[in-house]
Amino acid sequence: MRHGQTAHRHGRPIERVANLPTVRGYDSTSYGDGFADVYDEWYSDVTDVDATVSRMLTLTGAGGTVLELGVGTGRLAGPMAAAGLRVTGIDSSAAMLERIAAQPGGDSVVAIHGDMVRDLPDGPFDSCLVAYNTLFNLLDQAEQRECFRVVAARLPPGGCFVVEAIVPDPTAPAGGDVSVRSIAADRVVLSVSDHRPHDQRTTGQFVELTEAGGVRLRPWAIRWAPPEELDAMATDAGFTLEERFADMAGNPYDEAADHHVSVYRI
Ligand SMILES: C[S@@+](CC[C@H](N)C(=O)[O-])C[C@H]1O[C@@H](n2cnc3c(N)ncnc32)[C@H](O)[C@@H]1O
Repeated sequence: MRHGQTAHRHGRPIERVANLPTVRGYDSTSYGDGFADVYDEWYSDVTDVDATVSRMLTLTGAGGTVLELGVGTGRLAGPMAAAGLRVTGIDSSAAMLERIAAQPGGDSVVAIHGDMVRDLPDGPFDSCLVAYNTLFNLLDQAEQRECFRVVAARLPPGGCFVVEAIVPDPTAPAGGDVSVRSIAADRVVLSVSDHRPHDQRTTGQFVELTEAGGVRLRPWAIRWAPPEELDAMATDAGFTLEERFADMAGNPYDEAADHHVSVYRI
């Protein structure tokens, strides 16, 4: 579907946001629809699941309610639910959501098909999690700011919003890059990306070429922001930065950190 066209979710029309895509034809369903079949195989340990469960248990309290934005296949939501948290997850991709039930704990995750800015359930929730750069799937600053605002409206006083993301490298050069993700006798997967520092966007494709002649494209796009920019968005939405770690395990954050886990309190 091209941007600007109308999609149907929850049985009602939803207008695509006209100025977002940096890749023609890319919208909020593209990532999930492209990656659903390989997501758990490629990304099962891309972040620390056990540490995430433990962090969210500590912040939320046993038996508390968690809203996960861009819940995907339930890689984190399932284990959080298995640990006793009551988890609701929202995702724009039906193909990703279909996989949640197969995760340990996935049966008790409430899965909502919708947009993480426009379609959030009312809540309230004790905490909200947006993990593994998923906030950056919102492709402009206004959308990211709005995300902080709508999350703040779903938390009670004292509730927290946990954001896990990369710390962008300000020295990364603009331009394209091609590397190899995997090679087998009958297939190769290439990673093709285009980094545009001036508008804080990186777009890419995993291109799978097979001996049988097939080509499979898996597109992705992010609008990245440094922690200080996220802090400003959070402050404007009424949050206070309570803690910042280098990872979910709580290792100290410093200037060398390439990831952060930020805990914002309302
Ligand atoms: C990188 S995956 C992360 C999945 C999961 N949170 C994890 O850590 O494994 C990002 C997810 O966000 C979803 N997504 C992207 N844009 C979205 C939007 N605007 N609203 C809701 N979900 C979105 C994608 O479909 C995908 O499942």
